[in-house]
Amino acid sequence: MNRIAVLTSGGDAPGMNAALRSVVRSAVLEGIAVVGVQRGYEGLLEADFIPLPAASVSGIVHRGGTILRSARSEEFKTEQGLAKAAKNLRNEGIEALIVIGGNGTAHGAWELHRKQDSPVVQLPSSIDNDLGGTDFSIGFDTAVNTALDCVDKVRDTAVSHDRVFVVEVMGRDKGFIAVHVGLAAGAECIIIPEVPYKPEVVCEMIRKGRARGKESYIIVVAEGAADGGAVAADIQARTDADVRVTVLGHLQRGGSPTAFDRVLGSRLGAAGVQAALDGQFGKMIAVRQNSLVPVPIDVVWKEEKHLDLSLHELAARLAT
Ligand code: F6P
Repeated sequence: MNRIAVLTSGGDAPGMNAALRSVVRSAVLEGIAVVGVQRGYEGLLEADFIPLPAASVSGIVHRGGTILRSARSEEFKTEQGLAKAAKNLRNEGIEALIVIGGNGTAHGAWELHRKQDSPVVQLPSSIDNDLGGTDFSIGFDTAVNTALDCVDKVRDTAVSHDRVFVVEVMGRDKGFIAVHVGLAAGAECIIIPEVPYKPEVVCEMIRKGRARGKESYIIVVAEGAADGGAVAADIQARTDADVRVTVLGHLQRGGSPTAFDRVLGSRLGAAGVQAALDGQFGKMIAVRQNSLVPVPIDVVWKEEKHLDLSLHELAARLAT
């Protein structure tokens, strides 16, 4: 193998740069030249290639975002888009394409491999940690720690003013971020898509707490479960509490990756290059019980990933 390409696609995630660095350095050590595709599948359609020598990834392991930039592409999803992308890869002499991304990236990678026989390997990356088949994806740990830092700060002001704070976190239609942040922050309540939101239950908990002298509350809401503002309005309408809302939003996607995400990205990058050398195309490198295992990319949606609800129950028990 002489020449491979790498791209980052979909929502950026802290640790993508660590994975890129690892792909480049691991390939170069094997005598393979690496080409970077800028702006994900969009760049692939435009043949937006740049050389990535070993030195190009110096000083990026600690940086959030992705130096290759990212995008979501509609055209890539079409038959013509897939054919164009495959042709651009062939024209560039690319023998393997390593894609770093989440659910949307996986669908694109699978179609490119299945319909165009393109040699694709995926590395799982998403702050939501919602990809089936893998215990972890790049960026989740950092997003949780970033959100936790914010919730800890919100707690300071909530306690000072005897207020109820509703903090909305990301996670798309899963509650992985919310449960981990809520449990770690000692939130009084965590609202997640996996458990139906019942305003009367949350408000009853607050009313009872206030009756026994507990004044401040942190309610963590996953974006996929309810709108933070709507939850705050529910509480305001049903209790006499002073309520505020904080929507953490894209703050959770940025920042320097944690050691966990840097190590994960580094391990996945090296494993991705090895999978390409072994001809393991159409595969994603999954994390399973701390081992890295190539699995078919379609496992991402065929094996739906379920949140461990015992964490949600534990958080509720500890908050009483
Ligand atoms: O998948 C990562 C994520 O940050 C989700 O948590 C969120 O719902 C979505 O992306 C936001 O997407 P965008 O950056 O396109 O607004």
